[in-house]
Amino acid sequence: MIPSHVTLVEVGPRDGLQNEKQPVATAHKVELVHLLQAAGLREIEVTSFVSPKWVPQMGDNTAVMAGIQRQPGVRYSVLTPNMKGLDAALASRPDEIVVFGAASEAFSQRNINCSIEESIERFRPVVAAAHANAIKVRCAVSVALGCPYQGEVTPDEVERVVLLMKGIGVDHCGIADTIGVGTPKRVQAAMERALKHFAISEVSGHFHDTYGQALSNIYACLEMGIHTFDASVAGLGGCPYAKGATGNVGTEDVLFMLDGLGIETGIDMDKLIDAAAYISGVLGRKPVSRSGNALMAKRAAKAEAVVA
Ligand code: HMG
Ligand code: MG
Repeated sequence: MIPSHVTLVEVGPRDGLQNEKQPVATAHKVELVHLLQAAGLREIEVTSFVSPKWVPQMGDNTAVMAGIQRQPGVRYSVLTPNMKGLDAALASRPDEIVVFGAASEAFSQRNINCSIEESIERFRPVVAAAHANAIKVRCAVSVALGCPYQGEVTPDEVERVVLLMKGIGVDHCGIADTIGVGTPKRVQAAMERALKHFAISEVSGHFHDTYGQALSNIYACLEMGIHTFDASVAGLGGCPYAKGATGNVGTEDVLFMLDGLGIETGIDMDKLIDAAAYISGVLGRKPVSRSGNALMAKRAAKAEAVVA
């Protein structure tokens, strides 16, 4: 049942950097995307077309999209919460857009300032306009395993939003553990609800690693045959509207596990470490990802041995 090939969607440039308090120069964001595609990532979430008052770090969305040198075979996605975002994004020619809803009313209000029903009505024309421009639409169902404001979130609440997303014609359904509280059986229960309405190739997992459960949760999804996961280089990130939530699971950590399982991804670990080292240097701190740190330390030791 375990898939032989997994697609990793790199969300570091967006989910990873959106929460950075220090300004990150557009050129650094662009270089990060270049390093990620050089490492073999074929799906990259580049930026978001949200309000710069809400998320200032993503205010250079158009410049970042204009700055990247696109590589054939790589798909570039952006977040668009409403028609204003989509209209702005269209000029940047994304391959895919992401609408992001929530499984709890409280998180919907905090993150996008409207109820779940209102968010779906906002997304409806966004999905239609994206499709009219031959752009694929992914959705994220946030706080699917727990909400910082509501607390527990049930599979029924997840399925309700999955169905609403399906109803407006979303092509792909991402189930997101925004605050990283999910554990394997509960993740499988949430995923089952998505798989009732979307083909397995159009269901993905988005796991923040706040409680150290992300790899176990990904393995639980692999056991179900799910083969698409979001991950963030160097384990960057967090959501500005989910205080205390850490970044997505590190791309290096997921790749280390998948390589060990003999699962093909097309990603070169050494080049991925180049990307992790680059962005860690820009931010002036070590990666959060365990494998990123271990492999960077190994590199440093090798370099020292050569000098000696
Ligand atoms: P609002 O204030 O309700 O929007 O915000 P509004 O329509 O009333 O407009 C208010 C102002 O915002 C106006 O400007 C609009 O033009 C402007 P003003 O007249 O005051 O100068 N505006 C925009 N500007 C640029 N781009 C836009 C846009 N829309 C309105 N698209 C809104 C609603 C959704 C815009 C706001 O709440 C927002 O931007 N929220 C950002 C939320 C966000 O980015 N969160 C993080 C990403 S989601 C995430 O990380 C979760 C995920 O990783 C999965 C997981 O882990 O759960 C995906
Ligand atoms: Mg996220």
